[in-house]
Amino acid sequence: MRMRRKRNLEPRMEACADVLLCRGKPCKNLKEAAETFRALLDLHQIFGNDFPVELEVGCGNGGFLLEKATREPNVNFLAVELCTNVILTAMERVRAAGLKNIRFLNIPAEILECYIPENSIRTIYLNFSTPLPEKSREKQRLTSARFLAIYRKLLTEGGTIEQKTDSAEFFDYSLARYAEAGFAVNAITRDLHNSPYAEGNIVTEYEANFLLQGKPICMGIFEKTSGMG
Ligand SMILES: C[S@@+](CC[C@H](N)C(=O)[O-])C[C@H]1O[C@@H](n2cnc3c(N)ncnc32)[C@H](O)[C@@H]1O
Repeated sequence: MRMRRKRNLEPRMEACADVLLCRGKPCKNLKEAAETFRALLDLHQIFGNDFPVELEVGCGNGGFLLEKATREPNVNFLAVELCTNVILTAMERVRAAGLKNIRFLNIPAEILECYIPENSIRTIYLNFSTPLPEKSREKQRLTSARFLAIYRKLLTEGGTIEQKTDSAEFFDYSLARYAEAGFAVNAITRDLHNSPYAEGNIVTEYEANFLLQGKPICMGIFEKTSGMG
């Protein structure tokens, strides 16, 4: 079902200009944009400090980063979200909370390399990315080989990807892709909320729903290792 466009979307987006770093895509063809367009962000200048930078792909309404950035004021966070309607809610919440260590990119993750410098991100969070089980949509899965190649470039050496999902099939698929792309497994559980990793876990909006349905949550932390591309 298509979400109804938010009331006063454009003026409200404009009011969030201080936390929004970029929006849309530089050209229709994402592959061409990713290969040719560069408008790299100066993260030190944007945040006004040298704190480490972490990034969430598909931040949704922003609940995870809102809590994370509150708990960790000495870390900077980038929130990437394709859907303008959705990212608006996240930006308005962050502004209302007065948080200074989060900025937003309203772009598809396919073109992250256009804006984010290589070796600049300490951790990438993939919270409940849509599993997209149809074979025809494999390339769009946020843990497909195509995306892991992008994340590898953005991550610092030893940087990590932290993934949570309710889909065991998607988790298995992702595990195979991490291994192929040169990521080592640092932590893994197929029942996060009955594991030692539950302590300190931030429950996202989607996670709260899955918990209500009694679904176990898979979680893994995967470290970029040297020696590959
Ligand atoms: C299932 S929701 C999860 C939201 C949130 N992370 C949570 O756990 O509550 C997935 C989000 O990822 C976004 N998304 C999907 N594909 C994307 C892409 N290629 N680039 C950026 N965002 C994407 C969707 O618009 C959606 O808001």
